[in-house]
Amino acid sequence: MIEELDAVLAAAKDELATIDDPDALRDVEIRFLGKKGKITALGKGMRNVSPADRPTVGAKMNEVRNAVTAAIAERRDALEAARIAALCADPGFDPTLPRPVPLSDGRPGARHPLTLVTEHIEDIFRAMGFLLLDYPEVETEGNNFDGLNIPASHPARDMQDTFWLTDGNLLRTHTSTGQVRTLKSVAPPFRAIFPGRVFRNESTDASHEHTFHQVEGLMIDRHVSVGNLIYSMKALLSEIFERDVTVRLRPGYFPFVEPGFELDIQCQVCGGSGCSVCKKSGWVELLPCGLVHPNVLRYAGVDPDQWSGWAFGLGLSRLVMMKYQIEDVRHLLGGDLRFVRQFRQG
Ligand code: PHE
Repeated sequence: MIEELDAVLAAAKDELATIDDPDALRDVEIRFLGKKGKITALGKGMRNVSPADRPTVGAKMNEVRNAVTAAIAERRDALEAARIAALCADPGFDPTLPRPVPLSDGRPGARHPLTLVTEHIEDIFRAMGFLLLDYPEVETEGNNFDGLNIPASHPARDMQDTFWLTDGNLLRTHTSTGQVRTLKSVAPPFRAIFPGRVFRNESTDASHEHTFHQVEGLMIDRHVSVGNLIYSMKALLSEIFERDVTVRLRPGYFPFVEPGFELDIQCQVCGGSGCSVCKKSGWVELLPCGLVHPNVLRYAGVDPDQWSGWAFGLGLSRLVMMKYQIEDVRHLLGGDLRFVRQFRQG
């Protein structure tokens, strides 16, 4: 019996030495330790061992079973280490990336609807050859106002209530700051978008937040026309909504565009019948736009006789509300995880 046990241990060690995949390992485990395995079979033979020998044989039996169990575990660890080493050797593998954080219920987290919509828009524009640029939230007066044809004395400065910082800088009130920055640093012709957070010192309600999101778009080329602008905006909206939406175009005043427009879409929350989001009008201002004012080009050192362009400032927060029929803008930054979890995929 003792020799048989020694032979089984030796056989197990021999087999394990050549095994290099988890399925084969499992097979060995079953053949030695399983219900019908070799060691279990020998255990059943214990009843034929004389009572005098039983303690010695029993101890040997346990020793061999433990040794085989340990050898299998050791092999399994080695296989796992080799698998991880092979993964790390793949040049596409980045071990510094954060792991996805599971929610408390153990399921994976959800991406915020603002993230979902921003990424969708970035994809649309990237496919059309736009640069994707990122600019600071703390800005100079020059980039937020002067460079956009809004001098200190201009009444339009009151259109947007600004959070001023003690050092004379401000929190950008719109992503149009990126127009000045891009015109100064990228040689035309170019097309670019710059998504980001913007801030306004105003009281909040269902359709106003002090912090919200916009995507600015800017295209500079030769002979850009209003027809070009309107065509582009319509193409953009049909891509974003993935269906036809009813729009209306009104003249709109912004010092940095001429002519300027307000592009409204029919409220997707109430379908146009009137609700808190559209302030009972049935329409939502979504896409102010226009042809870049020559003063803006001139300020940034771009010759308005050579170059022209269009710009738009898409209200991302409003867009998310329209797309997902969210009735109060304050849900977006409210920090309630139950809200975000509704956007969980899978
Ligand atoms: N920056 C303007 C706003 O936030 C929107 C806008 C952008 C208008 C670009 C015209 C062109 O209100």
